[in-house]
Amino acid sequence: MTTGQWWRDAVIYQVYPRSFADSDGDGVGDLPGVLSRLPYLKDLGVDAIWLNPFYPSPQADAGYDVADHRDVDPLFGTLADADALLARAHELGLRVVVDLVPNHTSSAHPWFRAALAGDKAARARYLFRDQPNGWQSVFGGSAWTQVADGQWYLHLFDAEQPDLDWTNPEVVAEFESILRFWLDRGVDGFRIDVAHGLRKDPALRELPDDLDPELPVHVAQPGHPFWDQDEVHEIWRGWRRVVDEYAGDRVTVAEAWVYDFDRLRLYLRPDELHTAFNFAFLVAPWDAAAFRKAIDDTLAGLSAVGAPATWVLSNHDVVRHASRYGGGAVGRRRARAAALLMLALPGGAYLYQGEELGLEEVFDIPDEKRQDPNFLRTGGAERGRDGCRVPIPWSGQSPPFGFSPPGAAQPPWLPQPASWANRTVEAEQHEPGSMLWLYRAALALRREHLGDGGLEWLDGGDPAVLCFRRTPGNVVCVVNTGPDPAAVPDGLTRLLSSAPLTPEGRLPGEAAAWFQE
Ligand code: GLC
Repeated sequence: MTTGQWWRDAVIYQVYPRSFADSDGDGVGDLPGVLSRLPYLKDLGVDAIWLNPFYPSPQADAGYDVADHRDVDPLFGTLADADALLARAHELGLRVVVDLVPNHTSSAHPWFRAALAGDKAARARYLFRDQPNGWQSVFGGSAWTQVADGQWYLHLFDAEQPDLDWTNPEVVAEFESILRFWLDRGVDGFRIDVAHGLRKDPALRELPDDLDPELPVHVAQPGHPFWDQDEVHEIWRGWRRVVDEYAGDRVTVAEAWVYDFDRLRLYLRPDELHTAFNFAFLVAPWDAAAFRKAIDDTLAGLSAVGAPATWVLSNHDVVRHASRYGGGAVGRRRARAAALLMLALPGGAYLYQGEELGLEEVFDIPDEKRQDPNFLRTGGAERGRDGCRVPIPWSGQSPPFGFSPPGAAQPPWLPQPASWANRTVEAEQHEPGSMLWLYRAALALRREHLGDGGLEWLDGGDPAVLCFRRTPGNVVCVVNTGPDPAAVPDGLTRLLSSAPLTPEGRLPGEAAAWFQE
């Protein structure tokens, strides 16, 4: 394993354990399942995995309601399984990043139980008030729930996810201890949930009237009373001090829905977090100018603090990008091109499980199977995030597509579309030109030629085309977002393309290619 800021250009594969591989046939993925599939991830060519929460939890929000931060839910295995997974990943040269959820606990956490039982010190770790204000939960409905004695507690997410009071030193100390628990076990880093939300306006001011209604409710805006408060940075400086005590080049990545890079980069100052997800890139529509703006804003915005860029197209909270880019054959072509765009950019990249198979969002999950609190709390008005969380198809012609072992007692926790028979790992690895082949080839070339470094735009005059040179390595990436074939720079050697070039050597519409200068 290499040392020395590996995370500056790492490709990190997001494993959503519930939906990755089910070893015991209960229809839910688990840690032994992940372990069994590590060789696949090694062959794919990623550097690390990020595991979504596997801690003991009532699963009100798929494990983002943590009842014990120092153990593994029996649904996913045991602490020994987590240790075995870490050890095996490290043997294979894969690093492991775990997910920490500091904004809230589960309502089943012993602290919250004690708070409800009347323990004053425990209640002071959460945000109990005599009166609620008008804040709304990200998942819909009021952000306040009343308890038996009449007080109300704040939950920015589900009622089963009470927010912690991060002005309380006991909360700060507890999380620093949790960090050490996992660092001591050998994890390579942390993905930090809702990193822009931990501190709230002390007066619990109402939301100002002039917020941009176009922005989703979880995104920071100037004047917002609970997202991106200046005081949140004290917490990250404290976490960095802890992480820096450990050898081994551990990393932190912030889930901070802050599109403004003048604000986002504050999280990435040298004494705060190492990296942050690039949601401005993720939400860019299929449009050359929008991509270019997101890329320029990212590189300019982060270079001021010396932090590397990261790039991401999908995760467990958003509609899969093959569907966002139009779905069907068009979405698929665009997703292939987007992969080459993302993997050519300087910095790190996050892949969400299944994107390498070209999986699309599953829109037709029956209502009674849906589990996302976002769906449940809005009475179905919001469809929620289950459609990007459907278990991975590994092999075979019909569900569970190798996700669960033969003869499994339960079907997959969300139903898989029958049409995934030609999207399985098994099918795609024997199909040259499949999405899986493209990802493998791109990751291998990236390891050889691309990574951290610079980007120079090469303007060809076609507004639908992005063209840039990566340095060092002198790889030229061309992305054609328009429908018609486009010219590519002369005299270059093609390394890889998302679709065959035309007989005249042009790049077809909705395609991307890499060339060696
Ligand atoms: C983050 C997670 C999301 C979860 C929420 C509350 O946004 O990615 O899945 O529902 O935080 O913990």
